[in-house]
Formats: sequence, structure tokens, C-alpha cells
Amino acid sequence: MRALVTGVGRGLGAAIANELATRGLTVVGTARGPVPADVEQSCAHIVQLDLADRPSIAAAVAELCARGDSIDLLVNNAGLDGRAVGGGDHDRGPLDIDPDVFMRQIEVNTLGPLLFARGLVDLLRAAETPKVVNISSQLGHPEVVLRAGRDVGYNASKAALTTTSATLARDLPGVIVVAVHPGWVRTDMGGPEAALGVGESAQRLVDAMLALRPEQSGRFLDVDGYPFVP
Ligand SMILES: NC(=O)c1ccc[n+]([C@@H]2O[C@H](COP(=O)([O-])OP(=O)(O)OC[C@H]3O[C@@H](n4cnc5c(N)ncnc54)[C@H](OP(=O)(O)O)[C@@H]3O)[C@@H](O)[C@H]2O)c1
Repeated sequence: MRALVTGVGRGLGAAIANELATRGLTVVGTARGPVPADVEQSCAHIVQLDLADRPSIAAAVAELCARGDSIDLLVNNAGLDGRAVGGGDHDRGPLDIDPDVFMRQIEVNTLGPLLFARGLVDLLRAAETPKVVNISSQLGHPEVVLRAGRDVGYNASKAALTTTSATLARDLPGVIVVAVHPGWVRTDMGGPEAALGVGESAQRLVDAMLALRPEQSGRFLDVDGYPFVP
């Protein structure tokens, strides 16, 4: 089985790539820059991909299509919050958000994964039971937003990623497409106080990904593959 994971340079993407390789899958990673030595070892090759840059998405898709390998599992993991695109602690709320910060999050967290998956449809359809897993967030769920977080661009972009997954699932019969909340994870984004270690999140996610069933397509799931409960 062949898996393609975005954002393997650090954080959850690196851990998911390593975990999938441990389970015997052939893993292709994407990154914007160099990747750690363990990830380099886990991956058959690394494709350059910047989801904020549409020519970069087109080039990555073209490279993968030229190789022609079918894709059993696409993990759209790469993503960012407002801090990564210049948003400060006091200007990420709905009343003070910089429109450019908002739109950059939509570009990278929502549109980028959609365009990337869309470009790879033929390679997905060439697999026996293709799956697309979009790493979304509980912070895209309105019930959670009412009690946590203050980054309207992140909230909106992840809510849009979750619904985009459902629309893609509807329009791609035969491909299992889900959105998943990976838990609150100790990465650069999640911070040191987060509940889950990156290795534990990756293990549980990979268990859930490998066990996905067609009837789950279009759903928003938790780290263990159960329906997400806010
Ligand atoms: N950590 C959590 O608690 C948590 C909770 C819910 C959901 N998530 C989601 O889980 C995913 C992974 O997050 P993480 O915690 O591992 O965050 P992270 O440590 O900040 O890593 C983010 C990853 O996304 C990549 N990335 C950022 N901007 C990109 C772009 N324009 N094009 C391509 N790749 C880009 C980064 O690559 P560079 O190294 O090049 O920047 C990096 O590999 C994200 O989608 C995040 O929203 C995380």
C-alpha cells in the first residue's frame, strides 16, 4: 500500500509518516524544506509542496502524476494557524482579524488540500480502496469554538476543511474521504501543555486510517476514528 502525507518536515506529519512506514506502507512525503533524518528514511521520496502557492501545488501534482504510482491513502496533514502567518495574540479574533491573515489560512488549510486532492484523483482511483484523510480540528466545530480558542481564521478554515471533506466524499464515490481531529497534540502548533504526545496521536490516527470503512466517508471523526463529539 502507498501513502502520501503532506507536511512531513515536523510535528504530526513527521510522526504519521514514520508510523505508516513502520506498518509497512510505502510512504511519499511532501515538505517545504529539509526533513529530519528519520523521516527521510521512512519516505521513498519527498516532493516539494507549498500549499500557499498554487504553482507549487500544480508542480507537485504533475510530479506525482508523472511517476504514476497509485495512492491508497492521502493524508492532508499540513496546516497552520494565524500565528504562522503574522497574526498576533491580540488580532486573531473576529473583531480585529487582518483579512490577509484570514485568507492565508483559508488558502493553506482549506483550498490547498482540496486542490491537491483534486489533482490526484486519477492516482487515487487507481487504488483498490482509496482513502483521503484531511487533518482538520475540533476548533472548526461551532460547539467547541464557543468555549475555546481565539483564531477566527483557523476556526473558519478548519470548519471549511471539514465540510469540504463531505462534499468531496459525495462527489467521489469509491473514495473514502474523512476529516479527522487528531487530538490536542504537543507540537509547535499544539504547544507543550497539549494532552497527547505526537507519537501517540500518530499511532491512534494510523490505526483509525487503516480501519476506515466506506460508510464513514464524509464524516468528521476523532483520533480513534469514532464520530467526533464536541
Ligand atoms: N497540534 C494540535 O494540537 C492540533 C490539533 C488539531 C489539529 N491539528 C492539525 O494537525 C496538522 C498538523 O499540525 P502540527 O500540530 O503538526 O503543526 P506544526 O507542528 O505547526 O506543523 C505544521 C506542518 O504544516 C506544514 N505547513 C505549514 N504551512 C504550510 C504550507 N504553506 N505548505 C505546506 N506545508 C505547510 C509545516 O511545514 P513547515 O515546516 O515548512 O512550516 C509543518 O510540516 C495541522 O493541519 C493542524 O491544523 C493540530
